[in-house]
Amino acid sequence: MKNVVVVGTQWGDEGKGKMVDILAPYFDIVVRYQGGHNAGHTVRIGDRQFILHLIPSGILHSERACIIGNGVVVDPRAFNSELEELHQSGIESEGRLFLSNRAHLILPYHVALDCAREKRLGANSVGTTMRGIGPAYEDKAARTGVRVGDLLYPDLLRAHVRKNVEDANHELVSLGADPLDAEQLLDEYLSEALRLKPFISDTAAMINTAVSEGKSLLLEGAQGAMLDIDHGTYPFVTSSNATTGGAATGCGLAPKRITGALGITKAYTTRVGGGPFPTELLDETGRHLRERGNEYGASTGRPRRTGWFDAVVVSYSNMLNGIDAMALTKLDVLDDLEEIKICTAYEYRGETLKEMPYGASLLDECEPVYETFPGWKTDTVGLTEYDQLPEAAKNYIRRIEELCHAPVALISTGPERSETIIRKVSIVSDWMKYTERGAK
Ligand code: GDP
Ligand code: IMO
Ligand code: MG
Repeated sequence: MKNVVVVGTQWGDEGKGKMVDILAPYFDIVVRYQGGHNAGHTVRIGDRQFILHLIPSGILHSERACIIGNGVVVDPRAFNSELEELHQSGIESEGRLFLSNRAHLILPYHVALDCAREKRLGANSVGTTMRGIGPAYEDKAARTGVRVGDLLYPDLLRAHVRKNVEDANHELVSLGADPLDAEQLLDEYLSEALRLKPFISDTAAMINTAVSEGKSLLLEGAQGAMLDIDHGTYPFVTSSNATTGGAATGCGLAPKRITGALGITKAYTTRVGGGPFPTELLDETGRHLRERGNEYGASTGRPRRTGWFDAVVVSYSNMLNGIDAMALTKLDVLDDLEEIKICTAYEYRGETLKEMPYGASLLDECEPVYETFPGWKTDTVGLTEYDQLPEAAKNYIRRIEELCHAPVALISTGPERSETIIRKVSIVSDWMKYTERGAK
């Protein structure tokens, strides 16, 4: 049995899309288990670039089946436009893309509420992607949500949505936003949403049958552990479980059937939106990381906040996710620096903290304690062999492994598929063994 979760260990945008693309040929099915089109997963193949939001990155491999699990929230317009973009690029999804009947739908009132609430929070806003993610998950938890499977019963769905629009309008008006017209909303929405019908499936049953037949799953996480609703920097988080635990509930796979976890970890740190970020750099080095690393949101285009590698964050994430190995990405972005820092602990009111403290306001007060390393000042772009790395880069990687209690099995040295070092003796090379159905 080989069912591996790919999970971000920081605040998202670690390079999950690239790593899923590399691993997908060695698995039978690629599954998204949480989040929605707040995600932006970039895959570079030669000089072509794809940005996947809702559809698993495995779709780029024409022989792979892809599933959007029950834990995902789905905006039909985003789904359709992503399908169309793929189609324009010559990638067909029909017959190999399946959408859980139990996934919840994002409706226009979720988007309106997301925007109105963020506006109301002003300077304290979360900095959401404004895509209705939080309000859709709220409706799910409040047991008032509309699910993908409801599209098969349009009359019931219409009545349900009318009631929800009425409730949402009370809140929208109280927040100073315009109310929505239920009938107009339904007409426009259903014309998009009914196009989802051919994809609707009982995906948990499909997944479990496939696993029982010996097929393997690659479970593609969105966001990152520090944005997890339970374990992240609450309330500056997303509204789902981005950690590996979310993979089990988010696709209906028993935890004992998940056999491995690959943590995707950027060689420095970035964050988009509000919330604490102890190692943030607001200086020239921060700007350098943003420009050299092209740190602009793949979904919203917002500039990402940048900072030094935070080993407190990553060791906490590795613990929560049960990480077997890490993929360290964007090492090349550090190439020009004189010196490079790693945060090994925090100072909080005269105390040294080695572990992640509770809550955003505490973390906001933490000062990072750094270890400083000499930079390598050598071009590592595109390297594919570990031995080609400069000694200073190897030292940096070794220290990350020590501090974060997991081996670095993959090192990414550029955005392109091939710009990757795969270390021979690692659990990842076991995952990349060719199977009967695996890559040719
Ligand atoms: P994801 O959300 O985790 O899939 O990551 P994003 O796609 O949002 O952001 C990662 C960005 O870094 C994308 O623009 C990738 O093309 C790019 N990228 C990935 N790995 C590397 C790398 O090793 N070096 C460089 N320079 N860019 C990379
Ligand atoms: P990928 O999968 C980085 C952030 C938003 C905001 C917070 C809540 O590409 O790594 P939401 O719209 O989810 O309610 O916003 O979460 N956020 C991400 N940051 N990468 C992502 O996805 C993100 N998805 C959400 O910026 O701070
Ligand atoms: Mg992203």
